[in-house]
Amino acid sequence: MKKIKYTARIKRYDPDTNKSYFQDFEVEVEDSLTVLELLMYIKDKIDSTLTFRAFCRSAICGSCAMIINGRAGLACKIQAKDKIKNGVITIEPLNHLPVVRDLVVDQEPAFNKLKKVKPYLVPDPKVVPDNTKVESLVLPEEFKRYDKQTDCILCMACYGQCNALEGDEKYLGPFQLVKAFRFIMDTRDGVDVEERIKLVEDHGIWDCVQCQMCLAACPKGIAPCDDILELRRIAKDTGEENIATRRAKFWFATVYETGQIDKFHLPEVAFGDERGKEITKKLEEEFKSRGMSEDEFAPKPFEGIEKFRNFIKKLEKEL
Ligand code: SF4
Ligand code: SF4
Ligand code: FES
Repeated sequence: MKKIKYTARIKRYDPDTNKSYFQDFEVEVEDSLTVLELLMYIKDKIDSTLTFRAFCRSAICGSCAMIINGRAGLACKIQAKDKIKNGVITIEPLNHLPVVRDLVVDQEPAFNKLKKVKPYLVPDPKVVPDNTKVESLVLPEEFKRYDKQTDCILCMACYGQCNALEGDEKYLGPFQLVKAFRFIMDTRDGVDVEERIKLVEDHGIWDCVQCQMCLAACPKGIAPCDDILELRRIAKDTGEENIATRRAKFWFATVYETGQIDKFHLPEVAFGDERGKEITKKLEEEFKSRGMSEDEFAPKPFEGIEKFRNFIKKLEKEL
């Protein structure tokens, strides 16, 4: 078996001293090692204090997710040699979760968010028989709608790579929204869609920035970003007023009135709560500090706006 030499640069954290630092380990190992096997080699041969979490070694249990060269993934699924850059592979704990020691993170905050979406089936008595001896059937075409999502192993790689969490630590998170999607799609579920949608609106589906990093990180090929878009469509179809409908109405109203989108007041109106007001206030302060006047902050109708409004009215009649 071919051996290769390289540096494993590992982020360490010692809770006793509260110190976090990178430590380099020079290794000469077989080129077939996974990142997890590399960590086991270091623990076994160089430093027994190195701490990481792993169990199945087969991409099933979901416990070994970490950041490898800046990207989240499963250590037991990724070949170390594929990640060596200029002789170095960098390994860090998952982002957005408190580090317990070295590469081990505390998963509880993410699981607490998962609990908020009711991540379980509440049997619909109209569909699920009372008699436990009778099967509750799901048709193959029904199961196809959420088959992929049931592959989620709760590894949290998507969570550790999510850009929405960079700006908002209260954001529910990708796999939590995948779980919500999975139960909305389940024909046996008895919770109203409206109720399930309400659970994912606050710091949820409307806050995703559609960066697709969750899809890139997922070892099971699940696309939380796509499920979130679908959840937004479902939310729109429920007919309830929500961020999307308020945003659309405000866009239309300001464009009709002034010919421009009032992007500064958009968060205030769309969110419809204190959080929206806070974002609008911050935007106002930011732009004023750059010399923007009050007038510029609130768009005014442009010259000839009547002609534009008549055009819109005509379009509305034709639609
Ligand atoms: S697409 Fe949305 S959920 Fe996925 S990583 Fe980006 S912000 Fe997070
Ligand atoms: S969606 Fe994928 S990356 Fe996210 S927790 Fe589930 S399996 Fe892991
Ligand atoms: S050790 Fe189980 S998923 Fe990696």
